[in-house]
Amino acid sequence: CGIVGYIGSRDTQTVLIEGLKKLEYRGYDSAGIAVFTPEGLKISKSIGRLANLEAKLEDAPLVGSAGIGHTRWATHGKPSDVNSHPHTDHTQKFSVVHNGIVENYLELKEELIGQGYTFASETDTEVIVNLIAREYKGDIVKAVQQAVTYMRGAFALGVLTEYEPSKLVAVRQASPLVIGIGEGENFIGSDIPAILNYTRKVYILNDGEMAVLTENSVELMTIEGNFISREMTNVEWDEVTAEKGGYDHFMLKEIHEQPKAYRDTMLGRIDASGKKVVLPELKLTDEQIRNITNIHIVACGTAYHAGLVGGSVIEQLVRIPVAFDVASEYRYRSPLITPQTLVIVVSQSGETADTLAALREAHDNGAHVIAITNVVGSSIARDADDVIATLAGPEIAVASTKAYSSQLIAFYLFALYLSQVRGTQTEAEVAHIIAAMQALPEQVEKMLDNTDAIKTYAEEISKHEHLFFIGRGMDYAVVQEGSLKLKEISYIHSEAYAAGELKHGTLALIEEGIPVIALITQENVMEKTVSNIKEVKARGGAVMAITYDEHIPSLLKSVDQALAIPKTLPILSAALSVVPLQMLAYYASLARGLDVDKPRNLAKSVTVE
Ligand code: G6P
Repeated sequence: CGIVGYIGSRDTQTVLIEGLKKLEYRGYDSAGIAVFTPEGLKISKSIGRLANLEAKLEDAPLVGSAGIGHTRWATHGKPSDVNSHPHTDHTQKFSVVHNGIVENYLELKEELIGQGYTFASETDTEVIVNLIAREYKGDIVKAVQQAVTYMRGAFALGVLTEYEPSKLVAVRQASPLVIGIGEGENFIGSDIPAILNYTRKVYILNDGEMAVLTENSVELMTIEGNFISREMTNVEWDEVTAEKGGYDHFMLKEIHEQPKAYRDTMLGRIDASGKKVVLPELKLTDEQIRNITNIHIVACGTAYHAGLVGGSVIEQLVRIPVAFDVASEYRYRSPLITPQTLVIVVSQSGETADTLAALREAHDNGAHVIAITNVVGSSIARDADDVIATLAGPEIAVASTKAYSSQLIAFYLFALYLSQVRGTQTEAEVAHIIAAMQALPEQVEKMLDNTDAIKTYAEEISKHEHLFFIGRGMDYAVVQEGSLKLKEISYIHSEAYAAGELKHGTLALIEEGIPVIALITQENVMEKTVSNIKEVKARGGAVMAITYDEHIPSLLKSVDQALAIPKTLPILSAALSVVPLQMLAYYASLARGLDVDKPRNLAKSVTVE
């Protein structure tokens, strides 16, 4: 989602709409603005693209001196007019725009309903604005501070109240927010592009900080109310760089957004004890889960590769047989689907025609269909019986990165959930896996802090026309994704092989100097993979191993180079090992001078069969 806010003497509506246009790439399920007009706080919002809101405002403009705006990427509650932001409280004196997720909103909502508050939408934002209204005792800053103490999660807020029209309050709690400084006017934005047309002077808020804006002043303080002073930052970015959050390409930005995507996808789905996965959104009953006889995982491209990992995790943790299909094949091979078959479709966009057709085939045969998707209002999400949303945020680069890895997180959560219901893992085992999952975001951050070695290697391979990836088990699933990534954006021909299968034919292609990338995180088959590496080396292949630090010294006897990745549980390794493969593809594409974000012949979302 995207947030913008303004206080000053320009035409507020125009400033908000211009800001939202720059944020539209962050979400386009719906958009809305709230403005202080001479008649009080007025809201206008509309489902769909920003153009719908603009058309509405043309007929009924909102004229005033301060306002907040929002463009939404649905998380809680489907895209609809009523679920759009800004939200207001039951007295309609307060208005809030919000990014992020309030984890305990259902609890808070129940409490408020008990106190006589009523709700129009399904959103967590409406809970926030009513909470602020409840805490209001004549000082909006104090009311916001008090309300925030009750809220758990990651969020950024922009708050207005009719009682204090000269103030705009902004809060940051683990969701980005910047304050733009003007002359006789000030701004807030979830991202710099939203305000870059008007000012280059900004304060960047840290977690747990807030700002109180008037036309002529900006006060920064902690949520506890302690004033802070901060250096102003001068933004040097041009508009295009700003849109990419300062990165050279959307793909690079999205790779770096993975730790956040992991955290957001886990948020609210692990109970406070850390011992249990909760998926309150699921309609699938425990009884249905106990009756599942088999699972089909169906998807295309990168989403299919996430399915390969996910299905294998489900098999290991829950011991239900899983079959995998690329969606374009599924319905033409008369798959054996019964009402006890659970079908999981995976799709970033939720619009892929092949996947949608597969979903319908499953439905026609009576299966329960769960969609793992990044777009809550998409066709696939609407048609599925259940949705597990990945909270990766909009993905712009054609080559999928954060959507893939968030799909893995969704699969891990779902597999644990199934295992809880079917009793296939003990509470201690579940808790152990959850703890390892919670460490993943930081481990990814650590990997992304230093990518020099992978860059150098990418430059090396960018001179080749053919290369191979090998791995066993989970690693085989991940190298299939690594190979696809490389093909998509560097146009290098590459093939991913199950390490043990190479000798059954493909070994004929190995000749002097051919790069072979071996992913080795599954320690139970490590020695076997090393034997396969020796077969490659004997034919002149140049092997790069990607593995855990502790194995590098011994592996270096068999390979030419090695790269270390952080260690995690074998079933979770994909969420880490895919990262260097994404970076490899990225740097190889760069080294070849190609269009990283828009590779030839490919489209982000393919709506034809
Ligand atoms: C297209 C994209 C791929 C993507 C596939 C499935 O081919 O280029 O990157 O993996 O569609 O897309 P979906 O939105 O269903 O995940």
